[in-house]
Amino acid sequence: MRTVTKDNITDVFMSYMSGDTNPRMREVMGSLVKHLHDFARETNLTHEEWRTGIAFLEGCAAIESEDRHEFVLASDVLGLSSLVDMLHSSEDATSSSVLGPFHVSGAPALAFGGDMKRHFGGPVLLAEGTIKDTDGNPIAGAELDIWQTAPNGLYASQDEEQDTFSFHGLMTVGEDGKYAFTTVKPVEYTVPSDGPVGDILRACGRHPWRPSHLHFIVKAPGYRSLVTEVFPKDDPYLDHDTVFGVRGDLVMEYIEREASEFPDGLELSGQVSDPFLSVKFDIILAPE
Ligand code: BEZ
Ligand code: FE
Repeated sequence: MRTVTKDNITDVFMSYMSGDTNPRMREVMGSLVKHLHDFARETNLTHEEWRTGIAFLEGCAAIESEDRHEFVLASDVLGLSSLVDMLHSSEDATSSSVLGPFHVSGAPALAFGGDMKRHFGGPVLLAEGTIKDTDGNPIAGAELDIWQTAPNGLYASQDEEQDTFSFHGLMTVGEDGKYAFTTVKPVEYTVPSDGPVGDILRACGRHPWRPSHLHFIVKAPGYRSLVTEVFPKDDPYLDHDTVFGVRGDLVMEYIEREASEFPDGLELSGQVSDPFLSVKFDIILAPE
């Protein structure tokens, strides 16, 4: 096409893709470019605004590293990561939620009832539940990879004061599918906002806060792996998580209980002398 116009440029783009382009590539690229073109037409995008967008991408690339995934963060705060999660979540299973950049692979084994709190201050939080299939049967041998912030709001990978695997644990459940561990109540925290993504948040009048949560990756042979989180129902940021990770079935009550109610058979049994918090969170996995 020699005469390209603002109205035909999208069709011209499609015609430039060769006939043997992978069909899914044609669909995804075609749709992406159509929406990009429509966006520019609808907003009458100016050169200056276009340059600002390019500068944003360059800014993300400039600080992208093994420890800093600014493009993923951009996708998170724009809601794209969560939307992709929701598009591929199974209706019958526990909702999935954002992975985030702070998971460290290779966490040490945490036995049933094990403690992640160690010397950290604050009330004990006992987290327990059952890993089930969509018929409600326990999934024996499921593996839970657990991670969270320390009471200072930092993950181990962000904090030189913490060990590499502080507040990380890998638990394999037994025949009954049950898990239990003790920890501290995670705190709400801000996503990194000192880069280009922070600039966008500020430009849109948005805050960088996430409600407090425990993260889980749950895996079992024959089942779809699940990346999810559990949130306390009284968290002030539940209704405006900056990365859109909250789903109704992931919000649980953290109940305050007397020390005398602390169960036997856990690592901290007999050592809890103050009221503690308890959260029950069953996790349902969909078949593969
Ligand atoms: C997190 O929950 O760890 C997280 C998720 C998305 C962006 C930043 C942090
Ligand atoms: Fe997190």
